[in-house]
Amino acid sequence: MGFGWEGKLVRLVPIDLEKHLGNAYRWINDPGSAENTGLGDFPLTRMTERDWLESASKNSNQEVSFAVELLSGEHIGLTGLRAINWKDRSAITGTMIDKEYWGKGYGADAARVRSSYAFEVLGLRYLTSEVQEGNEGSLRMLKKVGYAECGRYPQRLWKRGKFVDEILLYMTREMWERGKTYEQTSSSDGSYLAVFG
Ligand SMILES: CC(C)(COP(=O)(O)OP(=O)(O)OC[C@H]1O[C@@H](n2cnc3c(N)ncnc32)[C@H](O)[C@@H]1OP(=O)(O)O)[C@@H](O)C(=O)NCCC(=O)NCCS
Repeated sequence: MGFGWEGKLVRLVPIDLEKHLGNAYRWINDPGSAENTGLGDFPLTRMTERDWLESASKNSNQEVSFAVELLSGEHIGLTGLRAINWKDRSAITGTMIDKEYWGKGYGADAARVRSSYAFEVLGLRYLTSEVQEGNEGSLRMLKKVGYAECGRYPQRLWKRGKFVDEILLYMTREMWERGKTYEQTSSSDGSYLAVFG
């Protein structure tokens, strides 16, 4: 068994600057990849990205960041929980997958492993995510793993020449449990929980 929280296609592993910085720096500055994150239109220096990854990789009570790797160990993305609120037991989620790997189910698998980790390991009960209107890949991925749309801020975000809506999504632990039961009855091994080892 590999090292990390494992799904069917990917593994979530701790961020290792040496292995993951180069890709993160490339993805975050790629206008196509970062178009929907609100970050990519401002160039980020390697130093800034390094600082971010370094802080993301430090033990924090409010944030958990992972590198997403294929089961073979190849680094293909980043995912995590931020603004963890231990009183409400909620967190905000986000994912970035290397453009070369889009549409192959890796993002959804990473989001499932992250959900399992959030609900079953950390004991959270409420995950939220915000998606820019037009980010069909992210919207589809989140709905596929059990998030539901619960509203939108009309015309909230400036995106390359026009204002677009910000779409709000959420998933409770109960919604996750229902989705997982469905997954388990429709797949052979079922579990999205694996341990380091
Ligand atoms: C959002 C993102 C993580 C999705 O990763 P992914 O590996 O492509 O996701 P998956 O393949 O698991 O699932 C995406 C689903 O959306 C569909 N999809 C992907 N891109 C799409 C597009 N442009 N239009 C419509 N559907 C799309 C896929 O076909 C798939 O649905 P399916 O399983 O029914 O075929 C990835 O596109 C990404 O990193 N985008 C840039 C960063 C970003 O926008 N992050 C989210 C910020 S809120």
